[in-house]
Amino acid sequence: MKNKIEKIVLAYSGGLDTSVAIKWLKEKFKAEIIAYVANVGQCGVESWDLIEKKAWETGASKVYIDDVRAEFVHNYVFKSLKANALYEGKYPLATALSRPLIVQRMVDLAAEHGADAVAHGCTGKGNDQVRFDVSFRALNPGLAIIAPLREWEFKTRNEEIDYAKANNIPVKASKDSPYSLDSNLWGISIECGLLEDPWNEPPADAYQWTKDPADTPDHPLYLTISFEKGVPVKIDHQYYQGVALVERLNQLGSEYGIGRIDMVENRLVGIKSREIYEAPAAEILTKAHQQLEDLTLDRETAHYKSIISAKYAELTYFGLWYSPLREALDAFIEETQQQVSGDVRLKLYKGNCTVVGRKSPHSLYQFELATYEQGDRFDHAAAEGFIKLWGLPTMIHRQVKEKNQDTVLLKEYAK
Ligand code: ARG
Repeated sequence: MKNKIEKIVLAYSGGLDTSVAIKWLKEKFKAEIIAYVANVGQCGVESWDLIEKKAWETGASKVYIDDVRAEFVHNYVFKSLKANALYEGKYPLATALSRPLIVQRMVDLAAEHGADAVAHGCTGKGNDQVRFDVSFRALNPGLAIIAPLREWEFKTRNEEIDYAKANNIPVKASKDSPYSLDSNLWGISIECGLLEDPWNEPPADAYQWTKDPADTPDHPLYLTISFEKGVPVKIDHQYYQGVALVERLNQLGSEYGIGRIDMVENRLVGIKSREIYEAPAAEILTKAHQQLEDLTLDRETAHYKSIISAKYAELTYFGLWYSPLREALDAFIEETQQQVSGDVRLKLYKGNCTVVGRKSPHSLYQFELATYEQGDRFDHAAAEGFIKLWGLPTMIHRQVKEKNQDTVLLKEYAK
């Protein structure tokens, strides 16, 4: 690695931190700054042009606005959906999934421009710094990594704002949101402010997308989602591209108050943090996908896959997207999805999303075996022998423990 850093690719959002970072990096390294902005479907962007303009005006020498929504949905979000990945059983990983993609694009950009460093605006106590740094190292260990927020000397946000003002960086006149937000197509992550006390109910203004279930329609909305090999392709029998499908479900779900998650989670850096999420499409699609698997996967695969789901979520959350294990798990998951095609019917009502029906040409559900009515073809007598052998180890254990081996054992099981 060269000692002098001359060109830095910075992950830029247009917000205060990364704007200040442009100036700070330029001053500290006397380097050229290439601002990279990923469009992952985040909310609150009034104009990409304005973000671009702000980066130029703050001192970037090049600015890239990169629409990666389709790649994000197909290569990250839908992989995670096929895995039913939910960190600690709840968080659909929106923020975590976007990082490896952003890193991939920044590494490509750095190669294209001969940059020697990459930079991001993550703080020193979050998960995102780990995801960025680990992924940068995995894809190009030759790049220096700079995290201004871990290094700079501002102790408070006000000091940062003073620096911004002194350097002609536009600071929003309106009072900044008390929350820290990160969003993309797969969901929005909200923390800080009153949420830092886990006892506080999230105030109404903390939620950015979804309606309060109390203010949603008094009638349910029924939806049918069709999957092909684990990928959602239709809403109500109409084909959608991945991005449009997720956007549509976010819109419908928000109207019905779907996808609110309130949790205390274990960060990789050892801290517990309270975060709320809104992920309407993620909730609808994950529930639908899980239930289609319930119909189409055999028991052993289904049970084993649920262990894989938890591991997949952990790897994604812990910044190990580029690890060999994640790739190997994807191969397993892909194999399990070959039969996961069919339709799922859901009911959205007052903040609840419930699966009410499912069907598939690959359904393993056999009416003749399941029914308690006319047409039952299950051999009830076959159950008896099965149960005897199934319970044998448990029975022996109890008998040995109670020291009366000889009773039922011989009578029932010996020839
Ligand atoms: N806790 C989430 C994660 O680690 C989200 C982090 C970003 N959250 C935020 N509000 N800025 O993936």
